[in-house]
Amino acid sequence: MSEVFGTKLKHPIDGDGMIAALSFSGGKVHLRNKHHEEQTQRYFKFRGQMGTATNDIVSKDALNLATSLATRSKTKLQPFRDPSNTNVFYWGGKLLSSYETMLPHSIDPTNLNTLGPDDLNETLKIPAFSAHFRVDPILKRLVTLSLKPETPSLPGKNGALPILQMNEYDEDWKLMQTQIHNIPGLNYSHDFLLTEHFYVLHMTPFVKTSATLFIQIALGLKSPGDAMKHYPECPSNFVVIERKQNPKVYFFKTGRFHIFHFGNISEVKVSSDEYLLEFNAVCLGDNAIEKFNMSFDQGLWLANGSECPGHLLEFRLTVPLKVNPKKDNGDMKLFDCHQFLAEDSNNEDDGWILVQLYLPEKRKTEFVILDAKCIEKGPICTIRLKHHLPFSFHGTWCEKTFVNQSNL
Ligand SMILES: [Fe+2]
Repeated sequence: MSEVFGTKLKHPIDGDGMIAALSFSGGKVHLRNKHHEEQTQRYFKFRGQMGTATNDIVSKDALNLATSLATRSKTKLQPFRDPSNTNVFYWGGKLLSSYETMLPHSIDPTNLNTLGPDDLNETLKIPAFSAHFRVDPILKRLVTLSLKPETPSLPGKNGALPILQMNEYDEDWKLMQTQIHNIPGLNYSHDFLLTEHFYVLHMTPFVKTSATLFIQIALGLKSPGDAMKHYPECPSNFVVIERKQNPKVYFFKTGRFHIFHFGNISEVKVSSDEYLLEFNAVCLGDNAIEKFNMSFDQGLWLANGSECPGHLLEFRLTVPLKVNPKKDNGDMKLFDCHQFLAEDSNNEDDGWILVQLYLPEKRKTEFVILDAKCIEKGPICTIRLKHHLPFSFHGTWCEKTFVNQSNL
């Protein structure tokens, strides 16, 4: 669980890159799992986002940095390990894996083989594609987020503002709409919200880029994960972008926290030039801002969740289409869920939640299915594996199955 070919992991996201598919048909279930080929080599090839590295990798990057400083040439470090299996989803006949810093990868849905990077018909201005996406069920569009953080000035290289690209694809992967923005301070975005008229993102005060940090990472003294902490000088704003050509961008000052994941949102037009947006998000660090970091707490939490747990905060913003106001609001609720499988019904909560569990005492993995309307009753089905799977991140439901009935 915690090493790759003898290299001890600092965090599971630096790890194996396992993809798993559970297929249900006729009351039977089939599991297929495979390592993502971009990540999994027979040796630990690339530095992990959370700091896992070998001495060879660090030495080579330190030498590259020293050479560029001495010659004032462009600094080129080795690429980071690409945790492309952070999310896997099926849209328009493609099964894609994705993570925010690199291109998505096409996966063969019949055997989970990695087919390679996919530039989506050259529609991405920056070669990146977030793990999280949203679907517009009315227009039947996939909406994606790509973000490159601010580039600090370095020897041989001028700095640059962050680049945000929001794309909308139809079910044939035709690009129906695209927006590109350079928004100072928007250096990280893992997830966003979609309404009929807006995109909503959070400008986190927990990510900052600098030449000093770049050099520390090159020398192996820090990792991007280590650098995720509270920066008092950085703003915490909701960024609301109109979902149309020539959009306005609105900024709403909010509390000091970090958001990886949003929940739900509703949009109501309250007057001819005002929209009310009500949404929620899991906010980390809101109750102990200096304690939140990405250390792998107790070997259980992806961030130090027992030290500084996240809370579901609810927000209400009024977007006046004529001016850019500033507001903040929020109070607490609890929140935790994994994969929601919607039942064919008009009731919003009809469906099931599928959760992957690791049982450390047995060193085995189980999947449990919960009725979304009565989670407190416990699992309505448990799928027990004879082995374990690496820690999971995200997953999505796909109506189609890709296994032979004889394998079920
Ligand atoms: Fe995520």
